[in-house]
Amino acid sequence: MNEIIAKEEIAPSTYGYDIYHPRIAKKRKAGQFVIIRTHDGGERVPLTIVGSDVQAGTVTLIFQAVGHSTKELAQLGVGDRLLDMAGPLGKATHIENYGKACVMGGGYGTAPVLPIADALKEAGNDLIGIIGARTKELVILEKELGAICSRLEVATDDGSYGHQGFVTDVLQKLIDEGEKIAFVLAVGPTPMMRAVSNLTKTYGTPTMVSLNPIMVDGTGMCGGCRVEVGGETKFACVDGPEFDGHEVNFDLLMKRQGTYKAEEQQASDHAAHCRVGLEAAR
Ligand code: NAD
Ligand code: FES
Repeated sequence: MNEIIAKEEIAPSTYGYDIYHPRIAKKRKAGQFVIIRTHDGGERVPLTIVGSDVQAGTVTLIFQAVGHSTKELAQLGVGDRLLDMAGPLGKATHIENYGKACVMGGGYGTAPVLPIADALKEAGNDLIGIIGARTKELVILEKELGAICSRLEVATDDGSYGHQGFVTDVLQKLIDEGEKIAFVLAVGPTPMMRAVSNLTKTYGTPTMVSLNPIMVDGTGMCGGCRVEVGGETKFACVDGPEFDGHEVNFDLLMKRQGTYKAEEQQASDHAAHCRVGLEAAR
């Protein structure tokens, strides 16, 4: 259980892992996530499930090695085991046939979009995909989403590939061209999800976003993941992670996401000098 069966660096510092866990592979639905730990005393890291292979009993996760714990995770290889993997957690995405739906992914936030796009397609939606990244080499899952979407647009901040600009610039362009989009799903950095929601609100287009607040237990016990939606407090781990983007208090979310920045930096600095805990995964 929890063994890394396959590992691939799909973009710089962005990894895809297939992890052996038949029960989660069988049970998981689009939009759900797991919480993993690499070793005793390690941080609990929430990662959205990108896919699974029920026959092989594996769960696919994609993450970017940005913080201390994801950098530790990236040091593991095929044959290593995670200490534990809890899940599937969170509510599955509400899926229905909207007609024409647009799925939007920002950076490595594009990974959770893939299973949702799959489920929306299966429900009969005609899908437009818009994915964005800072630069060409950070664009992920273009081929996979291209196979599901009838139209896939790529944007890069530096213009090295596709449209130059943000994913919201592309969405605005499509709307201006007369695309009648009935539903939008956006996953990526919080400023992106806020910008998408602000844009679609002006057109009254229903929009779901997948929030990524700080999480600890993932089961509604600690309150770490609380977010404000429609003026009410919700726990992203059990009430979400997907919420109506027009109702989310993004300012509060961003403030709370920055709470442990100093500690995170300290942990990264410390880890540069110490690799003891990770050896237990080997
Ligand atoms: P990034 O900062 O490089 O941005 C990726 C793209 O998002 C940009 O190229 C742009 O098109 C768009 N974007 C960014 N800021 C925008 C803005 N202000 N307005 C409009 N569009 C904007 O992204 P990254 O560094 O790859 O980070 C990915 C993010 O996705 C992380 O913040 C991560 O926490 C989040 N994420 C969320 C989930 C989830 O389930 N909610 C899962 C994985 C990742
Ligand atoms: Fe603890 Fe959601 S992560 S309540």
